Amino acid sequence: MSTPRFSPEDVTVVFLLGGPGSGKGTQSSNLVRDYGFIHLSAGDLLRAEQKREGSQYGELIKTYIREGKIVPMEITVALLSNAMADALQQGAGQGGRKARFLVDGFPRKLDQSVFFEDTVCPSEMTLFLECPEEVMEQRLLKRGETSGRDDDNAESIRKRFRTFVETSMPVVEAHGAAGKVVSVLATGSVDDVYARIQEGFKARGVHPL
Ligand code: ADP
Ligand code: C5P
Ligand code: MG
Repeated sequence: MSTPRFSPEDVTVVFLLGGPGSGKGTQSSNLVRDYGFIHLSAGDLLRAEQKREGSQYGELIKTYIREGKIVPMEITVALLSNAMADALQQGAGQGGRKARFLVDGFPRKLDQSVFFEDTVCPSEMTLFLECPEEVMEQRLLKRGETSGRDDDNAESIRKRFRTFVETSMPVVEAHGAAGKVVSVLATGSVDDVYARIQEGFKARGVHPL
C-alpha cells in the first residue's frame, strides 16, 4: 500500500457531506471563522478547473456536473491534494497549530473515499448534514435564481438527488459504521443548524480556536 502524502500527525482532515443544498458551503463559512478550518470545496475546485484555460478536463467536468454525475476520482483527488499542499506551503499549520482542512462535498463515492485516505490523508471524522429533499430542492431553486450554476435547475437537481442517494449515502453509512460520523439535522435557520454542529463537534472533542 502507498504512504499517504500527508500525515494525520501534521494535518486534520474533516469531511463535510450532505445532499445538494443541505447547506455545506453556508456552514463552512461559520466553521472557517470559528474553528480555523481551511475550506476546500470539491465542487468549487472542479468548477475552477472546468474554467481554467488549457485544462484537458474542462468539457468532461462540465458534462458530469450538468448530469449530476461523479467526476472520475483521480481528477478530484488531485485537485484536493494539490490545494492542501498549496495551503501548507503558504504557511498553514505553522506556528504550532495543526492545519485543519474542511473538505466540503467529498467523498461522494466509496472509491474516492478509499483512494483519498490511502494516498492523501486519513480523515478524522465526517460531518453529515441531514436534510429532506423538499427542503433542499426549495433552497437550490432559489439559489439558481442568482448562482449562474449549470446544475441549479429542476432537471439537474433531480439527477443530483439520485446520485446522492445511490452513490454518496453509502459513503456516509460506511463512515458511520466506522464510528466517524457526526450527523446533524440541517433544517431550520442557518443559526439553528450551526448550533447543532457546534454541539456535535463539542461532544466529539473538536473545539473552536
Ligand atoms: P450546499 O453547499 O450543501 O449545496 P449551500 O450552502 O450552497 O448548500 O446552500 C444552498 C442554498 O440554501 C444557498 O442559497 C444558501 O444560502 C441556502 N441555505 C443554506 N442553509 C440554509 C438554511 N439553514 N435555511 C435556508 N436557506 C439556507
Ligand atoms: O458540491 P457541489 O454541489 O458543488 O458539487 C457539484 C458537482 O460537482 C456534483 O454534482 C458533481 O457533479 C461534481 N462533484 C464530483 N465529486 C465530488 C464533488 C463534486 O463529481 N467529490
Ligand atoms: Mg456547495
